[in-house]
Amino acid sequence: MKIAVFNATEKKGVTYKLKEIFLDSFRDCAEITEFYFPKDCPNFCVGCTSCFRNRENDCKDREYVEKIEKALLESDLLIFTSPAYVFHTTGAMKAMLDHFGYRWMPHRPAGEMFSKRAVVISQCLGAGGKSTIKDIKDSLSWWGVSYIKTLSFKLMGDIVWDRLSDKKKQSITKKLTALANKMKRIDYSKPAKTNLATKAKFYAVRMLQTSLGKANLDYTDFKYWKAKGWIDKVRPWKQKK
Ligand SMILES: Cc1cc2nc3c(=O)[nH]c(=O)nc-3n(C[C@H](O)[C@H](O)[C@H](O)COP(=O)(O)O)c2cc1C
Repeated sequence: MKIAVFNATEKKGVTYKLKEIFLDSFRDCAEITEFYFPKDCPNFCVGCTSCFRNRENDCKDREYVEKIEKALLESDLLIFTSPAYVFHTTGAMKAMLDHFGYRWMPHRPAGEMFSKRAVVISQCLGAGGKSTIKDIKDSLSWWGVSYIKTLSFKLMGDIVWDRLSDKKKQSITKKLTALANKMKRIDYSKPAKTNLATKAKFYAVRMLQTSLGKANLDYTDFKYWKAKGWIDKVRPWKQKK
């Protein structure tokens, strides 16, 4: 199986440690590709909107976005990790996610995303872990991913792994390993089930694209939806993996 990991910092701190514990269960069975931000997507989206209006290949940052997109599409399991920075994901992770606005369902979602599984892991000192997860989950779910498992930890006391109590370290490790083992038992030759919320979003956007297409047959997103067959009878969750 293939795993792609998206790290919201380059720091080898607590978030890195949590990710390593999670991945330990997969070292013997998975091909793992990792991205560290900002290094692997160093620039901000400048709002040129050429990806929305025209072609994603016109993005000034395409060389970075393309590598990330390839990993997103080819991997069976997507792992996102982030500390809470002032109650949210890091600016570096947000900058990467902004580059994939054109993959949100109201634009040109990749059909492959509907069958993916994802895990989002966050940690914080005391508060803000949940809103950090939400920042990432919002993008994942609007990309079409239904199967998203999350783990959020409150360190309470210190922000250095080695200074946490043994009890704390053991409890975190136990939860991470339990989720990793659950994810390891999945048969990845079968697509993840698309949930009702994702289907509802798809059908709402399909209505929108149909009316946009009526007004202008040349509208970029409509042409994409039409070419995929989604305006007609084809559904991304029924396509073979
Ligand atoms: C800029 C910044 C903002 C932070 N904001 C929060 C916060 O809002 N809530 C919180 O509980 N911890 C906050 N923290 C602590 C981090 O979530 C995290 O626990 C700490 O950075 C250790 O993780 P790391 O070693 O992976 O960087 C913040 C840390 C930094 C550097």
